[in-house]
Amino acid sequence: MLSPITEDDVAALQALYEATPGYFQRVEGHPPGPGAAHLKLTTLPPDTSADAKYGFGWLGDDDNLLAFADVIRGYPSTEMAYIGLLMVRGARQHEGLGSRFHAALLDEVNHWAEVDRIQLDIVQTNRDAAEPFWAAMGYEPTGVIKPYTSGRVSTTCALWERPVHPAEPSRNSRITG
Ligand SMILES: CC(C)(COP(=O)(O)OP(=O)(O)OC[C@H]1O[C@@H](n2cnc3c(N)ncnc32)[C@H](O)[C@@H]1OP(=O)(O)O)[C@@H](O)C(=O)NCCC(=O)NCCS
Repeated sequence: MLSPITEDDVAALQALYEATPGYFQRVEGHPPGPGAAHLKLTTLPPDTSADAKYGFGWLGDDDNLLAFADVIRGYPSTEMAYIGLLMVRGARQHEGLGSRFHAALLDEVNHWAEVDRIQLDIVQTNRDAAEPFWAAMGYEPTGVIKPYTSGRVSTTCALWERPVHPAEPSRNSRITG
């Protein structure tokens, strides 16, 4: 079950970040700075309000954050949700946690009746690590590429998306071949 992650959890998110430095090295060119978690929990995309921003986490047995995601409901338009970041603790990656966490996230988004698509950006310098995961989660590139600058990294990011509910195969479709 997902726990809500708010500004009160800034220390736990900062600890997750510091346990997962490779991501920051790739997308910012340096390890996470001391204010990185606070920035993540408080920054909003243009024209969105704080109540549209949802933080979700999974706590381990030791109460450390194992996984985190932030999602903006209704961004960039009403029928969309936008994943800002989905992260699994560095030492716990490639165990299937990201996949299960994403499934739990989809369950949450499922309750947002107006939302039918989920989008996210993949930073070019992180693509080798992130693209296979998002492709496995059912996302596809939209073809939209935007400039991206953060810290020492200046590159591009690619917008990917998936439907919240993948289309059911038609009842009339026949198995051929
Ligand atoms: C991307 C990330 C969330 C994946 O989480 P994870 O727990 O390692 O992923 P899983 O073990 O659940 O992998 C699920 C599937 O994704 C694919 N996958 C994930 N990482 C992969 C990799 N490095 N290479 C190839 N396939 C990969 C595989 O198909 C995998 O299924 P399989 O293990 O049955 O083959 C995690 O590596 C992470 O937190 N990275 C740093 C933050 C980040 O880059 N987030 C994405 C940008 S927003």
